[in-house]
Amino acid sequence: MLDLVPLTDTIGTEVRGVDVTGPIPARDLDRIYQAWIDTTILLFRGQRMTQEQHVAFTRRFGEVVSYTRPEFNEDTSPDILVLSNIARDGRLIGSPVSGRVWHSDGHYLPDPPAGSMLYAIEVPPEGGDTSFTNMIAAYEALSARTRSAIEDLRVVISRVQSRPYNYPDRPPVTEAERASWPDVTHPLVRTHEVSGRRALYCGGNVPWRIEGLPPERSAPLITFVQEFAVRPVFTYRHRWRAGDIVLWDNRSAMHRASWYDGERYHRHMHRTTIAGGVPAVVGAARATTGAA
Ligand code: SIN
Repeated sequence: MLDLVPLTDTIGTEVRGVDVTGPIPARDLDRIYQAWIDTTILLFRGQRMTQEQHVAFTRRFGEVVSYTRPEFNEDTSPDILVLSNIARDGRLIGSPVSGRVWHSDGHYLPDPPAGSMLYAIEVPPEGGDTSFTNMIAAYEALSARTRSAIEDLRVVISRVQSRPYNYPDRPPVTEAERASWPDVTHPLVRTHEVSGRRALYCGGNVPWRIEGLPPERSAPLITFVQEFAVRPVFTYRHRWRAGDIVLWDNRSAMHRASWYDGERYHRHMHRTTIAGGVPAVVGAARATTGAA
C-alpha cells in the first residue's frame, strides 16, 4: 500500500509501497506527483530498474530529454546520463565527478530541465552523499521586505564561470566551449509552473552577478541569498544505498554531490532528465495564476 513519509519537516518525501517498474494506480500516481511538487524531492528505496524502465518511470513525471553532456550518455540509451568512475578498456564509462557546488541542473540553459531522476546502482560505503535544499521553503522564510526587494531581479548565469567551481578537476574551458556557452539571465525569484509558488533561483557558491546592479551591491546581495537558501533547516542529505531512486524538482530544489574516494570505491549511477522551459517570472505568474 502506498505510504508517503516526510524526509524532514521542510523537504522531501519517501515513497513506500511502490514497485516503480510495475503498474501504479492513477490515484497513487497523482498523490506521488503532488508530493514531488509540494516537497521538491522524492525518494524510492529498494528498486531495480533496467534503463528502459528508468526512462519509462521518468516519463510519468514529464517529457524525457537527453542532457547536455552527450559524451556521458549511454550509447544504447541516450536518455541515460552515466555518472560513474568505472573504466572499461581504459576509458571512463561516465562522468566520475558530479557538481560539487549547490546548483540546479542546467541553470545555465535558457530553458533548464524541470527535474532529474538519479538511480544508484553501486555506491561507496562512505562519501558520495547528495544534499538537497528546498528553494520554496527558503523563499517563504525570507522577510516580506527582502522578498519584495528581490522579486524582480535577474541573475546572469554563466556556464563558463561555473565550470571551475563545479568541476575543479577538469581542464580549463576551451575556446569552442566558450563560444557555444553564452551567458543567460534568469529571475532570482521564479514561480513554479505547476504550483504557482515562488522559489529562490540563485545557484550557490558561485559569485553570480545581479543584472543592472553595481558589483558592490550585487555581490553581497547574491551571497546573502545563496547562503540563506542552503541553511540547514531547508536541507536534506541523502546517504545512498544501491537501489535508491531520488527524483528532484529543478524548479524548486538545488543539490550538490559530495566527495568520495574514487581510488578505493566505485560510484555508479544513472540519471534521466525531464524537459523544462523558460523560468516564469513573478509578474508573469501573477497574470496566469491570479496570485497577489
Ligand atoms: C547531479 O548533480 O546531477 C548528480 C548528483 C550526484 O551525483 O550526487
